[in-house]
Amino acid sequence: MNEDIEYRKKINREDCLKFNEFDEKYNVETSHPLAEAKDKTYGDFKPWYIDNSDLYPESEGYRNTALAWIDLANEYLKEDPNIGNYTFVDIGAGKGRVILHTLATNDIYKEYIAIEIDTDLGQILEDNLKNTNIAISKPVKVKVSDARTTVLEIEPTVFFLFRPFSATAWHEFMNFNRNKMKDCYFVLVSNIDYTFRDYLEVEEIYFNPVVTIYKTISE
Ligand SMILES: C[S@@+](CC[C@H](N)C(=O)[O-])C[C@H]1O[C@@H](n2cnc3c(N)ncnc32)[C@H](O)[C@@H]1O
Repeated sequence: MNEDIEYRKKINREDCLKFNEFDEKYNVETSHPLAEAKDKTYGDFKPWYIDNSDLYPESEGYRNTALAWIDLANEYLKEDPNIGNYTFVDIGAGKGRVILHTLATNDIYKEYIAIEIDTDLGQILEDNLKNTNIAISKPVKVKVSDARTTVLEIEPTVFFLFRPFSATAWHEFMNFNRNKMKDCYFVLVSNIDYTFRDYLEVEEIYFNPVVTIYKTISE
């Protein structure tokens, strides 16, 4: 038995059934599709995704990060005494669950930016921020745009990426924004094929079977 795969499966499958609970608690809509888990390990369902690659060809589709992975990243990053100066940017923010959950449970950042290419998802994200009962006291900006060509004006930054796009699109994103990435963290959820070579010098500072965190090496 591969323990890494079992660990990932358990957390993801338990989480995917709980979006109703999250939505009712915070008065939002963050649903995503489920698929039958044929092996029935850890329940009958597994998380599935909305495929929007017909409209956005490099997109990997919409699906939520399990809350446990977000907690893990935030708990790790809050050990940095300077984290309150960082802007948290969710690249491919979907319906906004990562930022909503962070605002509700670990509001440790200076401000938040949600970038989402899909206009339907972007509308839901904006509605969620308007309708939620989470007390939001920090600036939260929504950019319904392509992250590959969105100018990032704010540093220092925590970039959160849960498989928004293909490795080709990742290279376009990095190439376009490389000069705005001098002091940042990258939280990569299940992004095994994204590399920093050619763009930035980074060190891997945290690793588990799902979440990897990198930090830029300052000159
Ligand atoms: C797997 S979902 C992750 C949603 C959310 N960040 C989370 O972790 O729960 C990836 C999202 O990236 C969006 N996306 C794909 N390509 C994009 C691009 N070029 N610019 C911005 N968003 C993009 C997709 O539409 C989708 O909503």
